[in-house]
Amino acid sequence: MANAFSDRGEVVLRRRGRDGALELRVNGVFVMDDRHTSTERDLARLALGACRARSGVRVLVGGLGLGHSLDELLGCPRTAAVTVAEIEPALVQWHRDGLVPGSRLADPRVTVAVGDVAAVVYAARGAWDVILLDVDNGPDFLVHDGNAAIYRRPFLHACHDALRPGGVLAVWSCSPAPDLAEALEAIFEDCKRHSLAVTLGSRDTAYFVLLARRPAQRRSAPWQGRRTHEPP
Ligand SMILES: C[S@@+](CC[C@H](N)C(=O)[O-])C[C@H]1O[C@@H](n2cnc3c(N)ncnc32)[C@H](O)[C@@H]1O
Repeated sequence: MANAFSDRGEVVLRRRGRDGALELRVNGVFVMDDRHTSTERDLARLALGACRARSGVRVLVGGLGLGHSLDELLGCPRTAAVTVAEIEPALVQWHRDGLVPGSRLADPRVTVAVGDVAAVVYAARGAWDVILLDVDNGPDFLVHDGNAAIYRRPFLHACHDALRPGGVLAVWSCSPAPDLAEALEAIFEDCKRHSLAVTLGSRDTAYFVLLARRPAQRRSAPWQGRRTHEPP
């Protein structure tokens, strides 16, 4: 249906022959399809549920994928603005060209940042009420190796600083990701891991959403003496 090459390899959007599903692959890795999107939607729903702002909610989404988390965010009247950071320019263009049915990129509340979500986070301070991270199949199943730093403490500190006080970071993972959960607990408060049942064909399994809140008041902890969390 469409393919392109980037520094990370081939990006493919295709209709699967056996069931007609729309499928996204990057660098030879299955990223997602449009048959199982409940947990991408749960990512947005759970994060908005945990966010204390009652209106004017500002959200950063990394990355776009097939746009189901974005669609869920925009369905909520509390959502005022969404910045979508997507590293694959071709995928953004395919959304704009109508190759992804139901794409919401043209919604006036949406701004697209073509590039690495890490760069967007490191450039921001207190900008968002919610940050959604769904750029891999989770920390234990990366789409590209460069994303390993997304799940480590320097970047998680930067996410903390990029949130408004009381804001929520939400991370999608296909595995329970205990190391990530531990890192989040060291930095944020009200950390929670949701286990979400999914059925893939005839197989029952679970995916996970990890939530973490930036404290509403600054608390005294050793790492808070640092003014900024620069990229390593
Ligand atoms: C699993 S999909 C996102 C699914 C999305 N939540 C949805 O509902 O369709 C992962 C997306 O993240 C993008 N991506 C991967 N690494 C990225 C990064 N470092 N910064 C921004 N986008 C990234 C991929 O190109 C892909 O479009």
